[in-house]
Amino acid sequence: MHKYLYFEEIDSTNTFLKNHYEELDDQTVVQAGHQTKGKGRLGRTWNDDSSSLVFSILLKDHLDASRLDLLPLLCGAAMVKTLEEEGIPSSIKWPNDIIIQDKKCTGILLEAIHEEGVKAVIIGIGVNLNDESFPSDLTFKAISLHQVTSKVYDSRVVLTNFMKNFDLFYQQFLDRDDSFMEVVKSHSYLDGKRVYLNYYGEDQHGTVLSIAEDGTLKVRLNDQEVFLNSGEVTLEKNYN
Ligand code: BTN
Repeated sequence: MHKYLYFEEIDSTNTFLKNHYEELDDQTVVQAGHQTKGKGRLGRTWNDDSSSLVFSILLKDHLDASRLDLLPLLCGAAMVKTLEEEGIPSSIKWPNDIIIQDKKCTGILLEAIHEEGVKAVIIGIGVNLNDESFPSDLTFKAISLHQVTSKVYDSRVVLTNFMKNFDLFYQQFLDRDDSFMEVVKSHSYLDGKRVYLNYYGEDQHGTVLSIAEDGTLKVRLNDQEVFLNSGEVTLEKNYN
């Protein structure tokens, strides 16, 4: 059972867990109706208009710094499975996004608290749920579940369904059985796509081959195959 906290409005569920991780239990889940200062990856902001599912999970026990990069992919696999159960096909754009019809419906932000080793990990997830439309700059980039199915989603139900899949995969992860990586690899959005990336300071073009078992991205760069981890590479243009 997860401890569960709900806030109608909060700055950011990730920030809340960062500030309170010491007194909260492992695997506490915090959901908000709306965030006023939602955080995205790479210092970006994550805006929601109350149509979204926004939540964070706190992990404190059994943390292994060498396996943290697998966690966003694990969450991606749990989300893909959750959407599949809703009849919505989706894929994982390495390392942190869920894509439907070439548009982003879910973003995942992992933050680790380091203090003589990893003290806590916070995984924040934002799902575009019931948005009817998006601002013009996002129209071609974002999609909501409602836009796909015309249904109206209860964020608490989607969260419960997601947590069921998360629990299954997280138990595998703790048992060192990375079966969830099969779901990740078979739903990789970037496979076969040309990417323009910054690799150790140099702009390069490459072709994505696959997501590897250890969570790195296998890319053909010129004549060599390289394995990229999310800290080393910025995918600047991901399509075609
Ligand atoms: C991204 O795609 O850039 C990641 C977005 C992550 C957004 C979620 S919403 C819940 C949690 N709280 C935050 O402030 N951010 C994450």
